[in-house]
Amino acid sequence: MKRDFAVWCKQLQSEMESLLLSHLPPVTQTPQRLHEAMHYAVLDGGKRVRPLLVFAAGTLFDAPRDAMERAASAVEMIHAYSLVHDDMPCMDDDALRRGKPTVHKRYDEATALLVGDALQAQAFEVLAGGALDAQRKVAMLRLLAHAAGSSGMCGGQAIDLSAVGTLLSRDGLEQMHQLKTGALLEASVMLGALAGKQLLAAEIAALKAYADAIGLAFQVVDDILDAVSDSATLGKTAGKDAANHKPTYVSILGLEASQQLAEKLRQDAHSALLPFGDNAQRLLELADLIVQRKT
Ligand code: IPE
Ligand code: IPE
Ligand code: MG
Ligand code: MG
Ligand code: MG
Repeated sequence: MKRDFAVWCKQLQSEMESLLLSHLPPVTQTPQRLHEAMHYAVLDGGKRVRPLLVFAAGTLFDAPRDAMERAASAVEMIHAYSLVHDDMPCMDDDALRRGKPTVHKRYDEATALLVGDALQAQAFEVLAGGALDAQRKVAMLRLLAHAAGSSGMCGGQAIDLSAVGTLLSRDGLEQMHQLKTGALLEASVMLGALAGKQLLAAEIAALKAYADAIGLAFQVVDDILDAVSDSATLGKTAGKDAANHKPTYVSILGLEASQQLAEKLRQDAHSALLPFGDNAQRLLELADLIVQRKT
């Protein structure tokens, strides 16, 4: 990883911490336990990859800072909510997340459910604010809603749960991954871009191709890490996919073919960005990070 990219990531990750804090209700506000659990779920953890994608795409299209900050916070809140629910006993039944006990373990199941619900609502409230023109805001709200709902992340999670113990086809597996993980990553890229100057159809197509590739790559790598890494490194329970009988890229294609696919998707992401030349440097580096990460 180049030094200036590492510095850029670190700077934004630290800014995200104070931004997210500023967009959450204070823990002193009633109901305090729910607000405390929301802080617990969102703050102090996570790679913040989705916000980094918002900033990289937003900067490429000269988006105003406040609009990028709101989009980054909103998408990270939706992501944090998806993790809280994903870990619940009715889904993956996990005890460890971001190096800490999961929300339902630290608090209780009803609180975990409400944390997710409240974070989702909060995300849309944050995105609806700010000074962008109303038409653009509506487009961004619609895009995030679509990516989070049953045609996106929730739909992918439903397929994931119904696929337990089954052998998905290669296409079925790809669809599940594109929805449960790819949809929010793609939304991060497109939200950043939408907040900026008017896009040409060719630019939208190029960005979508990039987002598609990194969205799938992200979950392929997540599957690989679950199989080859350890819980201390990941901050979540390793080996959980096999234990839960989940069809994954590793279980269906094997480790080596999964690694080759991740590398091919990284190259696809790079090719998609060719029309933007050097301006797309951060998006290129993020594709590398997504595929080469260890956590
Ligand atoms: C984990 O996402 C869940 C998936 C969608 C694969 P991340 O790997 O981005 O988790 P954090 O935000 O860094 O904890
Ligand atoms: C999670 O996929 C996808 C979402 C949370 C939407 P996983 O179940 O593989 O994520 P981890 O491995 O628990 O982070
Ligand atoms: Mg899951
Ligand atoms: Mg899980
Ligand atoms: Mg996983």
